[in-house]
Amino acid sequence: MAWQRVYLIGIILAFSSCCFFSLLASGQIEQMITHPSEVDALRAVRRKLSDSMKNLNSWKKTDPCASNWTGVICTLDSNDGYLHVQELRLLNMNLSGKLASELGQLSHMTILDVMWNNISGSIPKEIGNLASLKLLHLNNNNISGQIPPGFSELLDLVHFLLDNNNLSGYLPAELSEMPNLGILQLDNNSFQGTSIPVSYSNMPKPVKLSLRNCNLQGEIPDLSGIPGLLFLDLSSNQLNGTIPTNKLSENITTIDLSNNQLIGPIPSNFSGLPRLQRLSLANNSLSGIVPSNIWQNINFSATATLTLDSRNNFLKNISGSLNPPSNVSIRLEGNPVCSRANELNIIQLCGLNAGDDETYGSSNDSTTVTCRTQSCSVHDSYEYVPESPVPCYCAAPLGVGLLLRSPSISNFRPYTNEFQAYLTTSLSLDLYQLSIGSFIWQNGSRLRIYVKFFPQYSNSSSKFNKSEIQRLRDMIATFSLPSSDIFGPYQLLNFTLVGPYADSAKIPIKTESVKGFDFIELYEATSGFSVTTQVGQGGYGKVYKGILANGTVVAIKRAQQGSLQGQKEFLTEIELLSRLHHRNLVSLVGYCDEKANRC
Ligand SMILES: *[C@@H]1O[C@H](CO)[C@@H](O)[C@H](O)[C@H]1NC(C)=O
Ligand SMILES: *[C@@H]1O[C@H](CO)[C@@H](O)[C@H](O)[C@H]1NC(C)=O
Ligand SMILES: *[C@@H]1O[C@H](CO)[C@@H](O)[C@H](O)[C@H]1NC(C)=O
Ligand SMILES: *[C@@H]1O[C@H](CO)[C@@H](O)[C@H](O)[C@H]1NC(C)=O
Ligand SMILES: *[C@@H]1O[C@H](CO)[C@@H](O)[C@H](O)[C@H]1NC(C)=O
Ligand SMILES: *[C@@H]1O[C@H](CO)[C@@H](O)[C@H](O)[C@H]1NC(C)=O
Ligand SMILES: *[C@@H]1O[C@H](CO)[C@@H](O)[C@H](O)[C@H]1NC(C)=O
Ligand SMILES: *[C@@H]1O[C@H](CO)[C@@H](O)[C@H](O)[C@H]1NC(C)=O
Ligand SMILES: *[C@@H]1O[C@H](CO)[C@@H](O)[C@H](O)[C@H]1NC(C)=O
Ligand SMILES: *[C@@H]1O[C@H](CO)[C@@H](O)[C@H](O)[C@H]1NC(C)=O
Ligand SMILES: *[C@@H]1O[C@H](CO)[C@@H](O)[C@H](O)[C@H]1NC(C)=O
Ligand SMILES: *[C@@H]1O[C@H](CO)[C@@H](O)[C@H](O)[C@H]1NC(C)=O
Repeated sequence: MAWQRVYLIGIILAFSSCCFFSLLASGQIEQMITHPSEVDALRAVRRKLSDSMKNLNSWKKTDPCASNWTGVICTLDSNDGYLHVQELRLLNMNLSGKLASELGQLSHMTILDVMWNNISGSIPKEIGNLASLKLLHLNNNNISGQIPPGFSELLDLVHFLLDNNNLSGYLPAELSEMPNLGILQLDNNSFQGTSIPVSYSNMPKPVKLSLRNCNLQGEIPDLSGIPGLLFLDLSSNQLNGTIPTNKLSENITTIDLSNNQLIGPIPSNFSGLPRLQRLSLANNSLSGIVPSNIWQNINFSATATLTLDSRNNFLKNISGSLNPPSNVSIRLEGNPVCSRANELNIIQLCGLNAGDDETYGSSNDSTTVTCRTQSCSVHDSYEYVPESPVPCYCAAPLGVGLLLRSPSISNFRPYTNEFQAYLTTSLSLDLYQLSIGSFIWQNGSRLRIYVKFFPQYSNSSSKFNKSEIQRLRDMIATFSLPSSDIFGPYQLLNFTLVGPYADSAKIPIKTESVKGFDFIELYEATSGFSVTTQVGQGGYGKVYKGILANGTVVAIKRAQQGSLQGQKEFLTEIELLSRLHHRNLVSLVGYCDEKANRC
């Protein structure tokens, strides 16, 4: 038959309500394995790290991908039939030692995350070879030396987080050439009195530039040409000269230039930034007048606030009268203008205001209808769904904790609706199915948020079913949500399964590198499992030749009835099959479990 000459790349297990599968019992099946050069590279990485907490004990096993090394997430490359490292997630494992240059051999890597460890040494320049790298998170370690200028070759890189290390040298001007760089966060390093390259004014994509406490000198380049800039923090350096006068991006939320040596006036173009939340110019040598119209183009919502901090400068006068709306808080103490505070009627702006930092909040616009407390038992982990379309819908929430690792805002409250919409849309839920419990800002402008997901309203059930729980957990845990400029990268803190969900706590996390298929897709690929597409029959089920909508030729194994007891066994089998591999013939590219609606 003609198709036998086709390089066969897939076995797909179809699992319809009447057909079950069992193991492919073929002697030809070999173990699917990691590309040998990547095994060597990972071993070299391991040798350079010191693992006092024994988090990497699984790295003693034979194959990184096939024997599930901690933090190693793999993908199958159908061109060479090998598994390749796609992600390396070694965050918060108390690792010390160094990063090995062999990291540069992990050619399929998209995410390298080793933050919150105690890694020292320099950044291997070979990381600059990783053409597919999207996220590079090396923050909160003890990494020293120069940022390799060659990193400008990382054309796909979106997040570059290196804050809280011990870097020195200079900021490479070449980084401005990176076409997709969205977040550059380098706070708390020491660039030895070098300056911010002028080329940074032409960066195409950044939403966040955070260079706080980097020992930078010289003048601030004109950053008005960065179209989507949301967050700019250049505070606690020794920047001098005047503040560039051109207007920054219309969407900017935060401008922090405090604790520098800036002189001259406050540019009038700081007015007319409609989303501004915080402008901090404190502890500089600015002179001239206090502008009284910075908020003139802001339409304040009930929760929006604007903080203008100009403490400790040389501001002498006020333009017009200073009569800000209640959403605006202005701080002027430590300026000559405060010696005339009485006369100018600005005593409250020159005194010690109460702290206006948003430290903790709770979106408390809970249900306005009063529901009878007795009929929804909090003890059994049920509660009224705050925004339910049907009043007093009592359901069991899933509690999820998320950490936004580098958001581009200073105040979260005005963005709660946007966050609710972002999460629910990304997860295909209705808006009312999410309620934001609480949030708290942490050191380093990170935002911890606890949310509750509620099941869709139904009069027959008031909890999520298992497949829905698994879908949500997989999407959140495997970072499948689309990225958001405002909310930035996130991390799952906890996914709490209590009360009626306690027995779901052991549902396995999604099988990596294997795609779920729709039964219909497989049905169509095989012309309805027609006899003409059947190419084999074993003791365990029939095998069909199929062509997927994208043209991929696959072998589809339709499992036979009676051999499977339940979801758990099904997933175990998929897990096992995903590790089986015939180098020249067959590997698992997907599976379908129609009964459990898994596709
Ligand atoms: C893979 O390892 C992780 C921990 O490193 C564990 O939670 C998970 O259950 C393992 N999966 C399999 C299939 O062994
Ligand atoms: C991290 O490792 C160091 C030794 O390298 C140890 O002293 C320390 O207690 C560990 N910290 C945590 C949080 O486990
Ligand atoms: C970090 O690693 C260094 C060695 O590189 C060690 O001296 C130090 O104690 C470690 N610090 C912590 C907090 O583990
Ligand atoms: C960071 O590494 C240097 C050596 O490069 C070491 O002297 C220093 O103690 C380390 N700092 C911390 C906080 O571990
Ligand atoms: C940074 O590195 C220098 C030189 O290696 C070292 O002396 C210093 O202790 C390090 N700083 C920190 C905070 O680890
Ligand atoms: C500002 O934000 C709005 C809404 O999010 C967006 O449509 C617009 O393109 C943004 N402007 C720029 C210059 O990025
Ligand atoms: C800013 O600082 C740099 C380096 O410290 C110095 O060369 C320059 O003259 C200063 N510029 C101004 C305007 O003070
Ligand atoms: C304000 O910014 C615009 C656009 O960047 C610029 O053309 C204008 O000259 C600036 N105004 C002042 C007073 O500097
Ligand atoms: C201004 O400088 C003083 C003294 O160094 C410091 O205590 C204060 O926190 C600084 N203010 C701001 C807003 O950074
Ligand atoms: C503020 O809102 C009002 C009404 O909602 C609208 O007419 C006006 O154009 C808005 N102004 C700005 C600067 O967006
Ligand atoms: C998980 O999140 C909840 C809030 O939803 C919190 O109360 C709980 O302490 C967290 N659990 C863990 C283990 O962090
Ligand atoms: C920088 O270090 C200071 C002091 O240790 C800390 O408060 C701040 O959160 C750090 N900045 C970031 C972005 O982590």
